[in-house]
Amino acid sequence: MFDTMTVTKAAGALIGSLLFLLLMSWAASGIFHVGPAGHGAEGEEHAQAYTIPVEDAGGAEEEAADEGPDFATVLASADAAAGEKVFGKCKACHKLDGSDGTGPHLNGVVGRPVASIGGFSYSDGMVAHGGDWTPEALQEFLTNPKSVVKGTKMAFAGLPKVEDRANLIAYLETQK
Ligand code: HEC
Repeated sequence: MFDTMTVTKAAGALIGSLLFLLLMSWAASGIFHVGPAGHGAEGEEHAQAYTIPVEDAGGAEEEAADEGPDFATVLASADAAAGEKVFGKCKACHKLDGSDGTGPHLNGVVGRPVASIGGFSYSDGMVAHGGDWTPEALQEFLTNPKSVVKGTKMAFAGLPKVEDRANLIAYLETQK
């Protein structure tokens, strides 16, 4: 059986929490209504909220900016001499004299169809990748070979810097 004290305590607790909720919602509405009140109509605030996705065009640029400038821009002013140094990372597996090593020769690779060197045993992933090694396709592959060409047997982590990729591709373009 409930005695009066228990009922009173329970009621007190209930009223207490209701009062708390009431205060919270009052405080919250206070916070959330300050904005619209400051900017005028509530509709205006909504209009403002939708400006943010519009500014997202800028946001996307920002995202690209995180990785540095756009590849085509960097390639346009790429430095082939600097790219020759970057090629030092490829040398262990790739030659530029038309002979193949661990990897296929890379002279003439820019513009060459993917996996097109006869006699070189490409992975199924590379064969399936298809297309041509345009500068764009090369830079994408070289950013992270294993994620771009699933199952590639090219054991190379990638070139995270866009300048390195652009300089390297500019260098490869000089190696016919
Ligand atoms: C550890 C050896 C190794 C290193 C280092 C390496 N590669 Fe490769 N590369 C390979 C192998 C093996 C393949 C064939 C991949 C396949 O068939 O999946 C390949 C394939 C390629 C291809 C495709 C060629 C074609 O004919 O389709 C390109 C382009 C390429 N590598 C560029 C590079 C560049 C540029 C670097 C340096 C930044 C580099 N690789 C570093 C081993 C390597």
